[in-house]
Amino acid sequence: AQTGSLVIAVDGTSGSGKSSTSRGVADRLGLRYLDTGAMFRAMTWWLLREGIDVRDTAAVAAAAGRPTIESGTDPLGPTITVDGTDVSVEIRADEVNAAVSPVSAVPEVRARLLDLQREAIGGGGIVVEGRDIGSVVWPQAEVKVYLSADPDARAQRRTAEQGGTDVASTQQSLLERDRIDSGRATAPLTMAEGAVHVDSTHLTLAEVIDRIVALAEARPA
Ligand code: DC
Repeated sequence: AQTGSLVIAVDGTSGSGKSSTSRGVADRLGLRYLDTGAMFRAMTWWLLREGIDVRDTAAVAAAAGRPTIESGTDPLGPTITVDGTDVSVEIRADEVNAAVSPVSAVPEVRARLLDLQREAIGGGGIVVEGRDIGSVVWPQAEVKVYLSADPDARAQRRTAEQGGTDVASTQQSLLERDRIDSGRATAPLTMAEGAVHVDSTHLTLAEVIDRIVALAEARPA
């Protein structure tokens, strides 16, 4: 099957393995990769740096148009910049983890990033990960995956990824983000129509990647 204009949407909860999986699938199929979570994190990082109160919805809404956010889409080395500065490391900080879900619930933030996301997807040939890709950003995606894993597995993976040891507090922070991301009024995390549910709890990364590559290759020409 041709992959030139293919769009693969990978949605799911925090720590379900979306990033490693999406990058692996993109690499296997020669596609670009877009991490939309990184865009919400970059917006959040910028708001915090500007000293804007992230709980002040009106202030966040008013500021959402100001930063220039750019995503590099190489699956082997994705980048994210704010006003030209690479913030790939900064956006993973605890302060950003704690503030990103409330920021992501603000409709003006979503509208601004939605434009950037659709622009980046362009003519396709890309794996896009997030929460609302198959439902809102690109409902016409040829392949839609909803990736999940048990909270224990997610917390363990995320803690290991961050080189930490406190699995319980990582799990608490993941579940709090899930609660806000699934409960918000605008574009909540949901299983999109036509999505294939892949539970990665008992699968290796390679097995999850294989399943999604198989879905992409099985699609009608
Ligand atoms: O995937 P992640 O953990 O980096 O995402 C960080 C936050 O960004 C997540 O808690 C909710 C938000 N997000 C979103 O609202 N919509 C997306 N498409 C991607 C992420």
